[in-house]
Amino acid sequence: MLSRRAPEYPVDLETGDGLAAALEGCDVVIDASNDSSKRAGRILVDGSRRLLAAEEAAGVGHHVCVSIVGCDRVPMAYFRVKTEQEHVVENGPVPWSIVRATQFHEYVVATLTAAGRRGVLPVPRARLQTVAATEAARAVADVAEGPARRGRVAVAGPEIEDARDLARTWRSAAGRRAPLLPLPLPGRLGRALRAGVLTTERPDVRGTVPFADWLTATR
Ligand SMILES: NC(=O)c1ccc[n+]([C@@H]2O[C@H](COP(=O)([O-])OP(=O)(O)OC[C@H]3O[C@@H](n4cnc5c(N)ncnc54)[C@H](OP(=O)(O)O)[C@@H]3O)[C@@H](O)[C@H]2O)c1
Repeated sequence: MLSRRAPEYPVDLETGDGLAAALEGCDVVIDASNDSSKRAGRILVDGSRRLLAAEEAAGVGHHVCVSIVGCDRVPMAYFRVKTEQEHVVENGPVPWSIVRATQFHEYVVATLTAAGRRGVLPVPRARLQTVAATEAARAVADVAEGPARRGRVAVAGPEIEDARDLARTWRSAAGRRAPLLPLPLPGRLGRALRAGVLTTERPDVRGTVPFADWLTATR
């Protein structure tokens, strides 16, 4: 696991610390690191360059990057960083696959739970196709176990829903009363999210568990 807190082989993508030791004897690397702060570029883009150079030195034969469906179509800093990370991987020295996933059910719940603590749920109009993280992880593992150079593989949830409907479903499942606050997103960002750039009608792998069922099963 790429983590600064991994018990056996901690690594820091921002500095490169620990990479050589962690990669010794590895055939495949799955990069599921993440950061959405101002340091995202240093960790995900520069960090990918560091990681790929260390993989080349260690003789790794397959680099699997976890990315996001439609990231290249969302005019927002974090998504630009993810797109740049993909370019680094595509042009890097190690045979690669990129698994693009849609938003995880878990991410929606974490976001709404945090907002709910403040007493309101500000939610923009956005078409989402959330997927259980376990189903996305299965798809990533299958790609990692397969041949290198798969190119891009998209994994998405079974249903496309409006973010506000997801919020209502979560609110009723969680027994919360926080009112929904329509959050207007003007400009290109709002148009892109409303148009559903984070969704895909024809994913390579389609998750089977809709958000509402997943909520019921995890309660
Ligand atoms: N969340 C979603 O809905 C979603 C949807 C589609 C795709 N994705 C993609 O899936 C991947 C994982 O996302 P996630 O939401 O599961 O991430 P996450 O829960 O935030 O986990 C990120 C991981 O990155 C590690 N990390 C952060 N900084 C690091 C550094 N400098 N060096 C080494 N490791 C570092 C963290 O470990 P430490 O803090 O211990 O270092 C943590 O284990 C990302 O590529 C993301 O773009 C996420």
